[in-house]
Amino acid sequence: MIHPPDTRLVMAVPAVVVAVAALAVLVWLGAHAVRYLVADRKLRPVLRVAWRIKYTWRRTARRVGLAQTERIHSPWWSNRPPGTVVTRELIPAVTVAAEWWGVRVDASTVGRLGVEEFTQAAGHLADVWRVPLVRVAQVRPGLVRIRALLHDPLTQPATWTEPTDAESDPAVWVAGVDADEQPVTIRSAGVSGVVVAGLAGYGKTSFLNARYCQLAPSPAVQFVLIDGKGGPDYDDLFTRAWLSAKDDPEQVRDHLARVRELMVARQHAIRSVLGVKNVWHVGPSASWPLVAVVIDEAHTFLNETKGTDAQSKRLDALARETARLVEELIRKGRNVGIQVVLATQKATGDAIPTKIRDNCQVAISFAQRTSEAATAVLGSDITNAPDEHPRRLQDPAYVGVASMVAHGRPGFTLVRTPYVPDATADAIATATAHLVRDPLHLLTTGRVVADAAPR
Ligand SMILES: Nc1ncnc2c1ncn2[C@@H]1O[C@H](COP(=O)(O)OP(=O)(O)O)[C@@H](O)[C@H]1O
Ligand SMILES: [Mg+2]
Repeated sequence: MIHPPDTRLVMAVPAVVVAVAALAVLVWLGAHAVRYLVADRKLRPVLRVAWRIKYTWRRTARRVGLAQTERIHSPWWSNRPPGTVVTRELIPAVTVAAEWWGVRVDASTVGRLGVEEFTQAAGHLADVWRVPLVRVAQVRPGLVRIRALLHDPLTQPATWTEPTDAESDPAVWVAGVDADEQPVTIRSAGVSGVVVAGLAGYGKTSFLNARYCQLAPSPAVQFVLIDGKGGPDYDDLFTRAWLSAKDDPEQVRDHLARVRELMVARQHAIRSVLGVKNVWHVGPSASWPLVAVVIDEAHTFLNETKGTDAQSKRLDALARETARLVEELIRKGRNVGIQVVLATQKATGDAIPTKIRDNCQVAISFAQRTSEAATAVLGSDITNAPDEHPRRLQDPAYVGVASMVAHGRPGFTLVRTPYVPDATADAIATATAHLVRDPLHLLTTGRVVADAAPR
């Protein structure tokens, strides 16, 4: 006997499904509502944007060109005739998180959709999401981070903290923090030339100050401090310097000649004293310290006026001599632990001879007015990185923010550098002044010890 189907059961199944779905929607809405209500007043607009981004992502991606289609054979279980070609849409998968500054969207790259395509779409994304700025960065291969900024975290000043022992290591240069407040380091081991460029008042001297404060407590570092501005910026720091000068070109030339003398002596002695050909293989030490030659407003000493009067000719000859010395120190000082750091408003060829600039392994740029000036310091790759372009930093909120190639990170990184108050720098200089040594003298005493040692 055939029983008719139980109509009550047949009707109950969809009803249960509908009830479960409705309950899920209610729970979901409830969770969002609770999150919204308990959120800080400042976070609520961020949450609204985050939800808009998350729930409209597929549509947005298609509209701004972040979708790709591919042609594939239909799978074996499909009821299409075997071998039929169908198209499939690829949209980068995203995870969305609300932060105090805005929304962080981590997107997995897919097909031809990588950091470049996201960067190109950034303007459109900002329009669709109705946020002032969208910034794109590659976090690691396969992952692109998009920041929809309601407030730019880089505009938040960073406070200076006393360096730890690891940070006083001359091989490490802690530059500051990135937009995610993660520490950013730049290469220092094996580096003999660093250029720091940027418009006046955007933080070059403060940046060098922070580096000085990081290194001053280390007996494995000696400083040569030269301030082309000639003002009081470096007055307090000179107490911890082996050699120091203001805008006196003759004295500067003499100091650099002395550093060159040290370089030549070190080149001769390195094998017998250290047993290696490159100091970075063993690291700088109290007896073979890193010599950090800081030349602020470096263009002051490297520019030729090409005047015809006697005074101009004398100064031009000095400038040529200084440029030659700087160039030689950067070209040959790497393996013996000499590091020249040049700060200048512009790094174009008229300010810093290209021979010097192009030999520097590390380049850092604070705000710049022109593309030409940015390219001069960071190289032509910066034109492909509009988000990290120094031209975008021309706003008082970005004083202390620089674009650079960071250690172990692809492309350019924007870094918020910490501000060291003058009193702190002064205190560090005074407390560490007893560490000043003459590296030439150390070399001769070190050699005596090495020569006396049994072989
Ligand atoms: N990292 C920073 N964070 C906040 N403010 C800064 C920072 N660096 C510099 N400043 C401010 O900007 C001013 C100018 O900085 P400075 O380093 O002298 O610029 P530059 O040497 O490029 O002309 C400083 O006096 C300070 O008030
Ligand atoms: Mg300055």
